[in-house]
Amino acid sequence: MPEQFNTVIEPFRIKTVEPITLTTRAQREKYLAEASYNPFKLKSEQVIIDLLTDSGTSAMSAAQWSGMMQGDESYAGSVSWQRLERVIRDLTGYPYILPTHQGRAAERILYGHLGGRGKTFLSNTHFDTTRANIEFSGAEAIDCVTPVAAQPESDFPFKGNADVERMDALISERGSENIGAVILTVTNNSGGGQAVSMANAREVRDLCRRHGVLFILDACRIAENAWFIKQDEEGYGEKSSRDIAREMFDLADGCVMSAKKDALVNMGGFLALKDEELADHCTSLLIITEGYTTYGGLSGRDMEAVATGLEEIFNEDYLRYRTRSTAYLGEHLDRLGVPVIKPIGGHAVYINAGEFYDHLPVEQYPGQSLVCELYKVGGVRSVEIGSVMFGKYDEQGKLVPAPRELVRLAIPRRVYTQSHVDYLIEVFGRVQELRSSAPGYRIVREPRFLRHFTADFEPVG
Ligand code: F0G
Repeated sequence: MPEQFNTVIEPFRIKTVEPITLTTRAQREKYLAEASYNPFKLKSEQVIIDLLTDSGTSAMSAAQWSGMMQGDESYAGSVSWQRLERVIRDLTGYPYILPTHQGRAAERILYGHLGGRGKTFLSNTHFDTTRANIEFSGAEAIDCVTPVAAQPESDFPFKGNADVERMDALISERGSENIGAVILTVTNNSGGGQAVSMANAREVRDLCRRHGVLFILDACRIAENAWFIKQDEEGYGEKSSRDIAREMFDLADGCVMSAKKDALVNMGGFLALKDEELADHCTSLLIITEGYTTYGGLSGRDMEAVATGLEEIFNEDYLRYRTRSTAYLGEHLDRLGVPVIKPIGGHAVYINAGEFYDHLPVEQYPGQSLVCELYKVGGVRSVEIGSVMFGKYDEQGKLVPAPRELVRLAIPRRVYTQSHVDYLIEVFGRVQELRSSAPGYRIVREPRFLRHFTADFEPVG
C-alpha cells in the first residue's frame, strides 16, 4: 500500500460478483410489513445493502476457495483438520483445540460445563449468544465495562475495556469458587465494537490469577482488536498485529472463536484451551453434540477455508483498509450530525438511536424504529442493539430497558465498495430529514430467549 496517498483502496480485485436486486420504497414498505417490522425476517433479495451482521458474510479469497477443493472429508484424522489444528495452535499457543460449527457451539460446550445454578460469569460485555448460553445453564452473566464506555463523545481508544475494579469486587462478593469464568470479548461487540487494550487484558489476567478464576477470550474479532492496539497503545506500533494477538492469547487460559468474523469464512468456529482436564470435559460434550474431535461441526473443506482465513486476516494492508472504510462511514455520519459511538469500531458503526429519535420513549424501541426507517428509505438492513435485544421485564411485566438504544451497521468483510458506502451516507441524509415523523414500535409476539430474532412488531399510532 503506497502510504503517500490519502485514498486507502480495497486491497483486492473482484473476481466473482453477486447481483443486488434494487427495489422501490413502495415494495420495501410491503416487505417490511410482511416481515412484521423485524428485518431478521426479510428475504435477502429484498435487501439492497445488508449490514445485519459481519458474521458469516465475508467474501472468501481465491486461496480459500481453492483450498476448499482440497478438503479432506475423512471422518477421523482428516488432513484438513491437521492443518487447521496446526494453524490455530501456531496462532494461539493453546494445546487443546476443539472445532465447532460456529461460535455459539463453542460457548454452549464451555459455558454449559462451567455454568449452572449459583455460578456467575463476568465480562466486559457478554454478546447476546454468550449471555443466552450462560443464562440457559442457570448461571448469571454480569457486564463490567469501563465507565468511559458510557461517554459517547469520548475518543478514548479502548472503550471496550473491562472494569477490573468492579470485577474484583464481584469476585470477592460472590466467592471465586462461584465464578464460572471471566470473559474478555475483543473487540467488544455489544459495547460498540470498541477495542480492548493489552494493558487491560493484562489486568484481567492478574485479577484472574489472584482469585484463581478462569480467563477466557472471546476472540472472534481479535485481528481487528490487535490492529487498534498497534495504532493506539504505546509500545505496540512496531509489532505485527499477529504478534499482538498472540500476546493477548498468551494472557488467557483459553478462547472461544466464531471464525465467521475475523477468520473470513461463512461457517466455522472453535474452542481452544490450555487445561487438559477442562478440555477433556468439553471434548465429551463436543462429541455428543457437534461431532468427532477432528471435525466438530465442520466439513473438511470448511476447515481448509478457516485455516487460510486465519492466515489472511493478519495482512496489514487488509486491516488498514478494513478499519479505514468503517471509520469513513462513521466519520461521514458524524458530520451529518448522526450520533455515532466514538471512536468508530472495527466491524461496525453504532448509532445512538435513543438520541437520534429523542421523541420516542424506550418502550417504543427507538432502535427498532431506526432499523425500519433505514430499510424503508434505502433498503438497508441493520440491527437493533438496545432494549429489543437486551431488555427484560420486571415482575409486574414492565420493561427494564437496556443501558443504551443502539443500532449497529455491521460491515461484511471484503464485500462492499466505496460507492456502496457513499450510498449509505446519502440514505442517512434522507432518514435524518424524516427524523421527527419516524414512528415507535410495540412488540406483539416474542419468544423467551433471544427475542430480537423472531419477535413481531407493529408501529405505534
Ligand atoms: N461472540 C461474539 C462477540 C459475537 O459477536 C458472536 C456472534 C458470537 C460470539 C457467536 O458466534 O454467531 O458464530 O455463533 N456475533 C454475530 C453478530 C452473530 O452479528 O455480531 P456465532
